[in-house]
Amino acid sequence: MLKPYTAPIGVFDSGLGGLSVVQQLQAKMPLEPILYFADTLHVPYGERSDSEIRELTAAAVHWLYENGCKAVVVACNTASAFSLSHLRDFYGETLPIIGLVPAVKPAVQATQTGHIGVLATQGTLRGSLLKDVIEQYAKPAGVTVHTAMSPLLVPFVERGQQHSQACYAELKQILAPLAANQVDQLVLGCTHYPFLAQAIETLYPNVFTLVDSGAAVARQTERILAHQHQLIDDPLHQYSKPPVSKNLSLTLRMVVTGSVAQSRPVVEQLLHHHAFKRPFMLQNAYHD
Ligand code: DGL
Repeated sequence: MLKPYTAPIGVFDSGLGGLSVVQQLQAKMPLEPILYFADTLHVPYGERSDSEIRELTAAAVHWLYENGCKAVVVACNTASAFSLSHLRDFYGETLPIIGLVPAVKPAVQATQTGHIGVLATQGTLRGSLLKDVIEQYAKPAGVTVHTAMSPLLVPFVERGQQHSQACYAELKQILAPLAANQVDQLVLGCTHYPFLAQAIETLYPNVFTLVDSGAAVARQTERILAHQHQLIDDPLHQYSKPPVSKNLSLTLRMVVTGSVAQSRPVVEQLLHHHAFKRPFMLQNAYHD
């Protein structure tokens, strides 16, 4: 059975990077309550095995389901790469699962040079979702895809060190071959990477147009919920009592599996530039 339309949208990421997707969801559906699960104890997922990624993702989505979410956005390219079909088979119609695929399609459509880049984790580069979109969109258009990855980028964002010298040095090095190969569209194939956008622009001014999937995922989530009349502002519910106090739905509820004290300043920093600035509540997922 579907959860009530007043229930929150669940968002899951291996860590705090999924906040880039939360920002897009809030911009698109400002009235929807969101419950965000960050598996900060096990981040990064990128270097883990397929089965480990699948098991950690299943546990996180189960937590969101048990805590009453009406849909779950897997705001992690790495987790999506190995889990979407399993999760959809398991939950069926009871829980819509929305996943992330690197934004190869819009990059292919926009490239002038015929060369696009994909910056992603090792897991995402290994997974079949990326291979599928390359086959489907890049190959037929004759566009060459250059990939880049570094296991250090997600940890930089998790520690709030996107503007450190070490992070700049790493980005400079891994993106140099892409710049040298006339890449003009750079797909940010990890939800942590929109937080590196400013650093990339500083290092490679006007070289790459950065493309991510956040806005597309927010549109897809809205479409799915609207289709099931599960949006808070669906016309069908106009005569029912306001479901949640506005203040409560405007507060972002977050849970982490690791230390709350360590995550709090980084969450504050990552949400800092958010146009829809709103308060957040932060707890541990498994103990108070
Ligand atoms: N945000 C995750 C992604 O989109 C990071 C994966 C990781 O933990 O390595 O891929």
